[in-house]
Amino acid sequence: MRELNIYRPIKAELIKVIDESPLIKTFVLVPEQEISFKTGQFIEVTVENVGEAPFTPSSSPLETKQLEVTVMKAGYVTEEMHKMVPGQYMGIRGPYGRGYPLEEFYGKEVLILGGGCGFAPIRSLLYNLKAISDRLRKVTLCYGSKTPEDCIYKPYISELRATPKFEVLRSVDKADASWQEKVGVVTLLLDDVKVDVGNSVAVVCGPPIMMKYGTFKLLDMGYPEDKIYLSMEKNMSCGFGKCGHCAMGHYFVCKDGPVFSYNEVKNSPNIWM
Ligand SMILES: Cc1cc2nc3c(=O)[nH]c(=O)nc-3n(C[C@H](O)[C@H](O)[C@H](O)COP(=O)(O)OP(=O)(O)OC[C@H]3O[C@@H](n4cnc5c(N)ncnc54)[C@H](O)[C@@H]3O)c2cc1C
Ligand code: FES
Repeated sequence: MRELNIYRPIKAELIKVIDESPLIKTFVLVPEQEISFKTGQFIEVTVENVGEAPFTPSSSPLETKQLEVTVMKAGYVTEEMHKMVPGQYMGIRGPYGRGYPLEEFYGKEVLILGGGCGFAPIRSLLYNLKAISDRLRKVTLCYGSKTPEDCIYKPYISELRATPKFEVLRSVDKADASWQEKVGVVTLLLDDVKVDVGNSVAVVCGPPIMMKYGTFKLLDMGYPEDKIYLSMEKNMSCGFGKCGHCAMGHYFVCKDGPVFSYNEVKNSPNIWM
């Protein structure tokens, strides 16, 4: 594999677009050079003449020839991405930051709390956890979305439910007649989880409000602060610790994160914004 210059974007061909929900699409990209990342790290994606935005790959870190990003329509760059079709090109640079410390998960149960598009980094993590499942006791995913229509990765959820050691609980804020699972905010799912807290780590990724109340509930359940891993999002520019856009207290989220344990960031200002 040729040495990758992480400061310069490389071209990546869009080969497939998957509609996940009315606002979320997955883009399957083939970079001109193989790219390897650790689950939880992020890349910067450029759309020519529009701009750049950070995304955490949602694909397996064990796959280096192609990579997937799952993107919610939020503004200029993401709207343009949603208009793109196979055969077009994006730029990608990275990977950047610190991913999940998987060695800390060995021998433990892993409880994952995800909401909305926060399932994107979590899916990459789940692929990785499946590959090391002989070293784990159990993996429980609690995932929430606004409505059944907003639930992403539906085929993958079915696959996960058929995987030994993996359990999936889902909730929606507002159900329709088709919905057979929990109704209510995602943190309610934690009441139904059977977990050996003393031998477990927790992962939280989703909108800030969910991260906040999810973390507080995990603390109430008895999780130590250093066993709760948060995937933080801040507005970013350079991606590698030079511009200061992503400062959070004395951390730069791009370089020191985006994955932090709660005890590392609990005293930083505006962690839930
Ligand atoms: C490390 C990291 C990983 C991310 N991974 C994903 C992912 O996998 N999938 C995904 O859909 N999104 C992800 N995001 C969020 C994504 O980067 C933003 O949605 C995107 O930058 C918006 O760009 P835009 O040009 O479309 O919107 P803009 O036109 O720039 O802004 C639209 C609105 O979103 C706000 N905004 C812009 N950037 C952010 C941000 N980073 N966090 C919160 N609000 C923001 C703006 O203030 C504005 O209100 C991630 C962000 C970070 C920092
Ligand atoms: S994005 Fe420039 S320092 Fe973090």
